[in-house]
Amino acid sequence: MYGVILGKNPELGRAEFFAFARRFGLKVRPLEESNNWIVFESKPSVERHFRWLGGSLKLIRIVGESEEAIKDLEYARLFTVSLYGRDDWKLWRKLGSEVKRNFKETGPAKFFKPAKVYSMPAELILKGFPEVKDIVFLFRNDGSFLVGETVRVTDPFELKKLDVERPVQRPILSIPPRLARVMVNLTEVKKGKFLDPFCGIGTVLQEFVLQGLPSYGSDRNPERVGEARRNIEWLRREFRVKNSARIEVCDARKLKRCFRERFDAIVTEPYLGKPLKRNPSRGEAIKMANELDRFYYSVFESLADVLKRNGRVVFVFPAYRLRDESIYRKERGWLGKLGFEVLGRYLDYEERHRLIRDIHVIKKRG
Ligand SMILES: C[S@@+](CC[C@H](N)C(=O)[O-])C[C@H]1O[C@@H](n2cnc3c(N)ncnc32)[C@H](O)[C@@H]1O
Repeated sequence: MYGVILGKNPELGRAEFFAFARRFGLKVRPLEESNNWIVFESKPSVERHFRWLGGSLKLIRIVGESEEAIKDLEYARLFTVSLYGRDDWKLWRKLGSEVKRNFKETGPAKFFKPAKVYSMPAELILKGFPEVKDIVFLFRNDGSFLVGETVRVTDPFELKKLDVERPVQRPILSIPPRLARVMVNLTEVKKGKFLDPFCGIGTVLQEFVLQGLPSYGSDRNPERVGEARRNIEWLRREFRVKNSARIEVCDARKLKRCFRERFDAIVTEPYLGKPLKRNPSRGEAIKMANELDRFYYSVFESLADVLKRNGRVVFVFPAYRLRDESIYRKERGWLGKLGFEVLGRYLDYEERHRLIRDIHVIKKRG
């Protein structure tokens, strides 16, 4: 039995986790869920694949339930304690001391205090995880709890490197590498040809290449294409990957002129309109969304030309936070007319842009 701790957008993290489980054939069977964790049965290969998740933080092997389970934990000289579902330092100290007492029967044991009542992956890695253990308590609403040990963490340093160490960076223009990873999982496509037709400086392409997928990208702007190529060359050197990407100058409305391939999955964040200076009114948001939709309509006509039947598109549409703080989210009935089916929609807030990403998971009908 395992548990997964979801990251800062749990709804998106949950959708990604189940998509990832189907993508890698992990036979995940959920047993219990709270707002930031899921407990499940699955194949042990979840441990090997876990590094490819973007929206989760930790994978936990569940040892048992309540204080009883503490004696079944494996010994560690140095450890920390993470509580989920309770924000209580007194309880943290009490459970930590119980674990320590138990470990002391085997050898010397010490535990350290994380910044919150739970440790974050970066803290754990810096302290020496996995030799340094993270003992986890998952609290249910009724106060009962599960006990486990963290066996994998997603690596924030790798994601950071993909972002800030590459030769070309454009913080305003590009999608966070973590989100690119989430979007690739949302396709549920494990093998096959992947395309990003608005590749910009190549963040999504970096993820395709890193995962060893046959990778294709395009952008209308030749400068961006040159920059994406430089970033991919850097990635291949730094991460020692043999795989590469074919990147073309191409208008996303004319893809079949540039690619003879047929793709299994398209993952992209397109042009989302001009950056906003303030939250728009409802009327302004509707106007912007309608104007952009004319463009997206021709883009989807073009995607239909190069996507295989039953192929997947993970596409960021804009949604808007309005002046009254409510959210305007458009319905796009025209997708159905073009032969697409929307399988899921997830919001992700982008602080810097005042814009909300409305991530659509879409299938081209067979
Ligand atoms: C939001 S950026 C994509 C960022 C990219 N996902 C990344 O993280 O690096 C949008 C890109 O779309 C390109 N673009 C705009 N209109 C286009 C069109 N009609 N066809 C192809 N690319 C276009 C722009 O040149 C820009 O690089």
